[in-house]
Amino acid sequence: SIRARKEKVEGGYRTEQPLVMLTAYTMRMAQLLDPHCDMLLVGDSLGQVIYGLPSTIPVTLEMMCAHGAAVVRGSWHSLVAVDMPFGSYEGSPDQAFANASRIMKETGCAAVKLEGGEAMAPTVDFLTRRGIPVIGHVGLTPQAVNILGGYGARGKTGDEAKLIERDALAVSEAGAFCIVVEGVMEEIATTIAQKVAAPIIGIGASAECDGQVLVTDDMLGMFERTPRFVKRFDDLAARISEAARTYAEEVRGRTFPTADQTYRPKPRQD
Ligand code: KIV
Ligand code: NA
Repeated sequence: SIRARKEKVEGGYRTEQPLVMLTAYTMRMAQLLDPHCDMLLVGDSLGQVIYGLPSTIPVTLEMMCAHGAAVVRGSWHSLVAVDMPFGSYEGSPDQAFANASRIMKETGCAAVKLEGGEAMAPTVDFLTRRGIPVIGHVGLTPQAVNILGGYGARGKTGDEAKLIERDALAVSEAGAFCIVVEGVMEEIATTIAQKVAAPIIGIGASAECDGQVLVTDDMLGMFERTPRFVKRFDDLAARISEAARTYAEEVRGRTFPTADQTYRPKPRQD
């Protein structure tokens, strides 16, 4: 199991081998990422990445189910987790169970992820006791952007740092099998990774986390503007633009298609 990778040592917990997680929203991308990852996350970041929405707030259960099912169809090796969208779980543990079970039935995913700390701990407990593995998400929680007032790093004051630590601990004790810690001052993430039993998956967090996650499109260089914590491992936007430019040039110059790409009667062999 994922949790078994984290050992209890003197003064806290430690992970030997960091967990590798990336987001995926489509079948083909899942196929390509799957052999290299431990977990694939169908993040509600698909709101911005796939649908051009201004935030994750408008993302629906239907979107998450459709993309979740596609990603499950493209994965064999990685654990697939699907984000619960804003408004689908916060009302009550009953509401969360109804919608999480629907996500699991419609997609075949192995786990769901939901945002929130202490306030969501009873819900995490309710789901895990009823057979739904849960990934927590604390620190910068994008569904709470209208309360947080933006996407800046969290935990710049000691009080806020303590709250984030408390959130992670509460969600871990409630049974989350791992926790995403996003957009926090490095020291907070390092402390949480040591103190909390559940593996901590960092994004804009710390190299000391028990794993890392990035939004795949950011990591591939598909976006013009990305947060500071994104490392671009490729520049796909430039490569796609160049391919489209060359295609347009060849169509307009009648140099595509050629004989290689056209159907013609076979020459007779006799
Ligand atoms: O929606 C998402 O992609 C996420 C990850 C960034 C953790 O929640
Ligand atoms: Na998310």
